[in-house]
Amino acid sequence: DWIMGNYIEEAVARIREQVGDEEVILGLSGGVDSSVAAALIHRAIGDQLTCVFVDHGLLRLNEGDMVMEMFAGRLHAKVIRVDAADLFLGQLAGVTDPEKKRKIIGGLFVDVFKAEAAKLKAGDGGHKGATFLAQGTIYPDVVESGGTKTKKATTIKSHHNVGGLPEQLGLKLLEPLRELFKDEVRELGVALGLPHDMVYRHPFPGPGLGVRILGEVKKDYADLLRRADAIFIEELRAAIDPHSGKSWYDLTSQAFTVFLPVKSVGVMGDGRTYDYVVALRAVQTSDFMTADWAELPYSLLKKVSSRIINEVRGINRVTYDVSSKPPATIEWE
Ligand code: XMP
Repeated sequence: DWIMGNYIEEAVARIREQVGDEEVILGLSGGVDSSVAAALIHRAIGDQLTCVFVDHGLLRLNEGDMVMEMFAGRLHAKVIRVDAADLFLGQLAGVTDPEKKRKIIGGLFVDVFKAEAAKLKAGDGGHKGATFLAQGTIYPDVVESGGTKTKKATTIKSHHNVGGLPEQLGLKLLEPLRELFKDEVRELGVALGLPHDMVYRHPFPGPGLGVRILGEVKKDYADLLRRADAIFIEELRAAIDPHSGKSWYDLTSQAFTVFLPVKSVGVMGDGRTYDYVVALRAVQTSDFMTADWAELPYSLLKKVSSRIINEVRGINRVTYDVSSKPPATIEWE
């Protein structure tokens, strides 16, 4: 609308003034904030922006391709995709402790991003290097001291909006979303032409499937989990609640599948199976500090379960998590 149109014009003018003819690097994660920041900065300065997308191999099904298709394909932004799946999986081999896994993933993420940023900063043959680092910091990230954020929530942010990174890299900071609340960031994203489904996505943790595969992370587990989770999300989007007219995806705050590295017995055709178990998790919450498990319709659970077991060979049992937070957490790790 008109107000948002005006806002975009002003924001674009501010970015152009701040950046001048210099170059900007932005870490694209596929999340809402970095996506909207990228779209806005690209609108302002086009090819003076280079996005770096670190694919740690723990993203959801086709997510990396979708990010590339959106930003490189549709917006024609410069995007460097760093395929670091082998590096991450290699370092995670044998590691089972959730916090250790988080540290490894977060640390590697910073290392890989820094290496790319350093190359872009150095520039090449006559081409001067980048001088700005852009981040999708939003207002609630800025007012961390408000008392509503847990320590964990703060660490979370340090995963992608890496504290101290601009200084370490000797880059100036560009944070065009600093004054906006989440709702405003979403509206801005839609006004900039990002797809509704991308802008209204559930939050996804920085360590990704790394904390949704219990214990040791293995590529085979991640592949099974990705396919099961894609079925769950597809059915949540397709199931419309007749009372509200909304999809069950929109009626839940976060929904995902967890891979349990235990095997249980099943029957399929004439044979016995001995395969893995997944748990479906769907919660409703206003602040993610407390959360209720969502009372999804049985018909929806039934369909998801039967599709996962029939379509994902290697999983023969689906369970639904009926634990509230507290005392359980939303994620299983
Ligand atoms: P819990 O499991 O603590 O999750 O109830 C609360 C919210 O935080 C997200 N979460 C994370 N996000 N890095 C992130 O970026 C993390 O390590 C992490 N751990 C939990 C979780 O998805 C939920 O939205």
